[in-house]
Amino acid sequence: MLRTIFVLNRCVLMAERTAVRKGMSAEEMAKEQREISISEFFEKNKHLLGFDNPTKALLVVVKEATDNSLDACQDAEILPDIIVKIKSIGEDKFRVSVQDNGPGIVKEQIPRVFGKLLYGSKFHHLRQNRGQQGIGISACVLYSQLTTGSPMRIWSKTEGSKKGYHYEIFINTSKNEPEIVKEEEWVDGFDHGVRLEMDVTARYRKWVEDYLKQTSVSNPFAKIIYTAPDGTKTTYARSIDKLPRQAKEMRPHPYGLEWGSLYRISQATQSRGLAGFLVNEFSSVGATTAKEICKVARLDPNLNPKTLEREQIEKLLGAMQKVKVQRPPTECVVPIGTEDLEKSLKSEYPNSEFITVRSRNPEVYRGFPFAIEVGIVYGGDLPQNEAAQLQRFANRVPLLYQAGACATVEAVKETDWKRYGVQQSGSSLPVGPMILLIHMCGVWVPFVSESKEAIAPYPEIVKEMKLAIQDAGRELSRYLSGKRRKGEAKRRMLIFERYSTEVAEALANLTKGDKSDIEKKLKSMIAEKMTFDDTAGNEEAGGDGQSDGKTTPVKEKTKPATAKPADVEKK
Ligand SMILES: Nc1ncnc2c1ncn2[C@@H]1O[C@H](COP(=O)(O)OP(=O)(O)O)[C@@H](O)[C@H]1O
Ligand SMILES: [Mg+2]
Repeated sequence: MLRTIFVLNRCVLMAERTAVRKGMSAEEMAKEQREISISEFFEKNKHLLGFDNPTKALLVVVKEATDNSLDACQDAEILPDIIVKIKSIGEDKFRVSVQDNGPGIVKEQIPRVFGKLLYGSKFHHLRQNRGQQGIGISACVLYSQLTTGSPMRIWSKTEGSKKGYHYEIFINTSKNEPEIVKEEEWVDGFDHGVRLEMDVTARYRKWVEDYLKQTSVSNPFAKIIYTAPDGTKTTYARSIDKLPRQAKEMRPHPYGLEWGSLYRISQATQSRGLAGFLVNEFSSVGATTAKEICKVARLDPNLNPKTLEREQIEKLLGAMQKVKVQRPPTECVVPIGTEDLEKSLKSEYPNSEFITVRSRNPEVYRGFPFAIEVGIVYGGDLPQNEAAQLQRFANRVPLLYQAGACATVEAVKETDWKRYGVQQSGSSLPVGPMILLIHMCGVWVPFVSESKEAIAPYPEIVKEMKLAIQDAGRELSRYLSGKRRKGEAKRRMLIFERYSTEVAEALANLTKGDKSDIEKKLKSMIAEKMTFDDTAGNEEAGGDGQSDGKTTPVKEKTKPATAKPADVEKK
């Protein structure tokens, strides 16, 4: 009985609930459902692109434009001359302009490049570049119009043409299409390249200088002239006059491929048979490997790839992971290189005591080749008792935010710095007068987010970083123990010098010689001893032989001859 009452009560309650429900019906919801434009999405979610605070916003704008200029110049094989200016135009409002001497952008493409998100030249190629998604610069246009209501101004002139074009562009966010406000020919001005000007709400901090200085370290072939809001002009000079070699494009490697990608590639291919498809569309697959893959997958090598069914794709994918496929070609990876990196660091930090750089041989992660480089700059005017300054780079682009989420920080913290004679408490950053540079370059860098601020700490990547750090650490340790030994010897000599008069007197007594003569000789012997020979270091030789390195034990208090610090001038 009780149970019946209880069940009845529940039924009544439920019926009441249904009756009073004021929510939407599926039909009503259907009226609200429509496509969301990518621009409108990012207008609401600008933090995903790095525009989460006004300080960062200014940096992102400078960074996106400068990275594009560097990419364009490098692709066109032009030594980049980049002019960056930030001008204050009101409370929390800045006008940012970036000009390059690159190949320029053809007239027809200008509106789409700047007025449409997800439009670019790099997305469909597996090639080492700074940019990738075709979001960078149009996101800046979006931010600028959102915060100041003003359009992006563009001047572009292509190489060899007399006239250039000037545009003013907004993004129509509901359509993700450009809205051209102004379009005109333009004759005077620079020979070729692009000049951009945009107004943004932002806050100015020294981050911009940090970004430019670090950009200059990782791009020693670039010249950057920067004018800060207070009119201070800084020139980051070129420390080498040669561009890096062109990065080769690669096809996807079978390892690490996913079902959807394999399906997409199979639908787009021109190949008619499965074996040919594998050879043509993938990296490092020759005829024998292709046959082997078909055999393991139990699929006919002549099967038309466009007709593959879901299970067949799955089988093929499985076989592609099982069969031994050669590593992807490593020419796709273009590191800075030990020689250029060393020159660059010397020129940016001319007062340092010691510099060592390491460049690891490329490794492969999920089918993508990548390489890690490390540089250590030690001593000189770097702060003594602070945590080492970590400079992180991905494809030559400095990463200034989200350090905590970055593979580089994990690798540095997991390194036992005490082994190399550097202070470290627990597993935190090492302490000492030191800059630690870590660069990951490759066809694909796994960023933790769309704003590309940190490298995802996948174990394979962290491991390579640690190996590079250890290599450089050993070199530093050799230098530091040599320096310590020299310090001890010097102390001993100073004590000897202090008592040299007494010693000379005793010796004169014993030998019946001339005291002042003996003292003179003693002093000259001590002085000779104090100008040490520089043969420090007998630490364990180490490393796994997988890296290339360069070291500069800059003599104490001697400035390298190549010193070319950023030249700062106040207007
Ligand atoms: N300064 C420039 N010179 C030449 N081409 C440029 C320049 N800036 C941008 N571009 C072109 O515009 C495209 C879109 O740029 P962007 O939105 O930053 O995307 P991404 O750099 O990721 O491709 C680039 O792929 C490039 O083709
Ligand atoms: Mg870009």
